[in-house]
Amino acid sequence: MRFPREFKPKPTNWKVVLTTAIALAALLFPIGVAAMPAGAVVSTGDVPRGTSEVERNTSDVPRTSLYNTDAASSLQVVVNKKRPLNPIDYLPKGKVQIGYAWVAKPAAEAYAKLKAAVSAKKLGTLCINSGYRSFASQKIIHAAKVAQLGKAAGERLAARPGHSEHQTGLAIDVSTTQLGCRIGPFGSSRASKWIAQNAWQYGFIVRYPSNAKTSITGYVWEPWHLRFVGVELATDMRSKKITTLEEFFGLPAAPRY
Ligand code: DAL
Ligand code: ZN
Repeated sequence: MRFPREFKPKPTNWKVVLTTAIALAALLFPIGVAAMPAGAVVSTGDVPRGTSEVERNTSDVPRTSLYNTDAASSLQVVVNKKRPLNPIDYLPKGKVQIGYAWVAKPAAEAYAKLKAAVSAKKLGTLCINSGYRSFASQKIIHAAKVAQLGKAAGERLAARPGHSEHQTGLAIDVSTTQLGCRIGPFGSSRASKWIAQNAWQYGFIVRYPSNAKTSITGYVWEPWHLRFVGVELATDMRSKKITTLEEFFGLPAAPRY
């Protein structure tokens, strides 16, 4: 049969037909991939669904995502005027007594080391003026400060119940026995200056580090108020030169309720 040149059928290319059939079969029946054991290397180089490279490679995860800032029982919980404890009447477990105060165990162990270091430096004998406070006792302290200084000034010193780090057992107000364990004069002491520079090595931060940070933390400078966050986070904050938890975790400033 004669065809015009452009309509002349080409001879069948069996190689192309076979390759197309195999490709179609792979698309319609991806049995091989589905049956692969978990963790098997996918020949295409694809990352398994729901697991991004960033999530798999923990060295790439920003440090901040490794800390739990929400759970009341977390050592890194962030409590402030905008972040009440959940539940609001949270009661921490595992407190130990130090003098008249009760303190959460990890904070108590770190405090013992801090106290030994302060003594070794001959800066005084540390004591705890206030440690764990229940919702009820914080309510009394808050009411007393507001009655004494008025609402605005009082609330820059005392938290409302359910909003205080003291309710977690992780915060301690420290002074020295040489100062009668009073917190008022503590900021002028050599012990206070040393603590501000070195508390991180023991896992503590001065949580309300200066009046310049009141617009972020909601509180005036409290050189006596130490918050245990763990050595890792305290070291992280120190090396990044970030002094508030709000700034470190990129959380909203909490100047008011
Ligand atoms: N003095 C701190 C802010 C508190 O009352 O928890
Ligand atoms: Zn305090």
